[in-house]
Amino acid sequence: MILIFYFIFYGFLTALFTLTMWVMLQTVDPFIPKYQDRLSVPGMMIRPKTDALDITYNVSNTETWENYVKMLNNFLEAYNNSKQVATNEFCRPGQYNEQPDNGVPNYPKRACQFNRTMLGECSGINDTTYGYREGRPCILVKMNRKEEDAQKLGELAMFPANGNIDLMYFPYYGKKVHLNYTQPVVAVKFLNLTFNYDHNVECKINAANIATTDERDKFAGRVAFKIRVNKD
Ligand SMILES: *[C@@H]1O[C@H](CO)[C@@H](O)[C@H](O)[C@H]1NC(C)=O
Ligand SMILES: *[C@@H]1O[C@H](CO)[C@@H](O)[C@H](O)[C@H]1NC(C)=O
Ligand SMILES: *[C@@H]1O[C@H](CO)[C@@H](O)[C@H](O)[C@H]1NC(C)=O
Ligand SMILES: *[C@@H]1O[C@H](CO)[C@@H](O)[C@H](O)[C@H]1NC(C)=O
Ligand SMILES: *[C@@H]1O[C@H](CO)[C@@H](O)[C@H](O)[C@H]1NC(C)=O
Ligand SMILES: *[C@@H]1O[C@H](CO)[C@@H](O)[C@H](O)[C@H]1NC(C)=O
Repeated sequence: MILIFYFIFYGFLTALFTLTMWVMLQTVDPFIPKYQDRLSVPGMMIRPKTDALDITYNVSNTETWENYVKMLNNFLEAYNNSKQVATNEFCRPGQYNEQPDNGVPNYPKRACQFNRTMLGECSGINDTTYGYREGRPCILVKMNRKEEDAQKLGELAMFPANGNIDLMYFPYYGKKVHLNYTQPVVAVKFLNLTFNYDHNVECKINAANIATTDERDKFAGRVAFKIRVNKD
């Protein structure tokens, strides 16, 4: 199963990146030492986040997943529609939200609304357990880079639709001036995981169409995690 996003890194506008999400049906063990390496690459992270990026739980045992739900609740509070409307602005889709300083250094930048409801079934609004109770868990993939397009996978649902993150959320000017900025996220819902099985999921960005980028940057930005849903 391969999921492809196209990324444009702001500041490298000629660069087209491909994010490939592999859902690998191999066992975990040889994989674990690599997690640290992957984590050190900035730009991508998941929620819920655990130390080993291991999401394992048992559907019929609430204590094994309620903490994941809590983490998602906490993380998504900042995305509440009311909060977004109070702090951020409604932006024109399809274009960068560039805000030149116009001679006033560090002038505060406005951020664009990223509403919780944009995460649909993974917003926690209608389904307060984000699918965990049914064994169809949502994982949020945080990305602080621009993403263009996504191909759909039969067994994954993506929110916002097709995993699209609008240009309006870029550039990011840093927390000193971009005060109310909430990072755009993509939610992935695993609709038909095989239960009682370790699934290794890797989201990575492959450089394509980049003349200026060296080999080391080719795989900049990736996150790998394990998900396992136990069910009788
Ligand atoms: C966010 O919305 C949820 C319900 O959708 C509510 O329970 C929660 O208190 C809200 N949080 C904030 C910080 O407004
Ligand atoms: C966010 O939600 C609020 C209230 O539901 C709505 O008024 C606003 O237009 C939404 N913003 C975006 C970008 O969809
Ligand atoms: C940030 O949000 C607050 C409301 O919480 C608002 O008063 C302020 O103008 C916002 N700042 C910027 C730079 O958008
Ligand atoms: C919640 O359910 C209502 C009614 O089915 C639907 O209209 C709405 O889009 C759902 N909200 C989200 C965020 O999925
Ligand atoms: C779910 O996956 C299994 C294989 O793991 C497959 O046999 C089944 O048809 C799938 N169900 C749906 C609804 O896609
Ligand atoms: C899930 O938890 C239940 C209740 O604790 C336990 O009986 C069952 O064996 C567990 N199933 C798996 C597959 O771990």
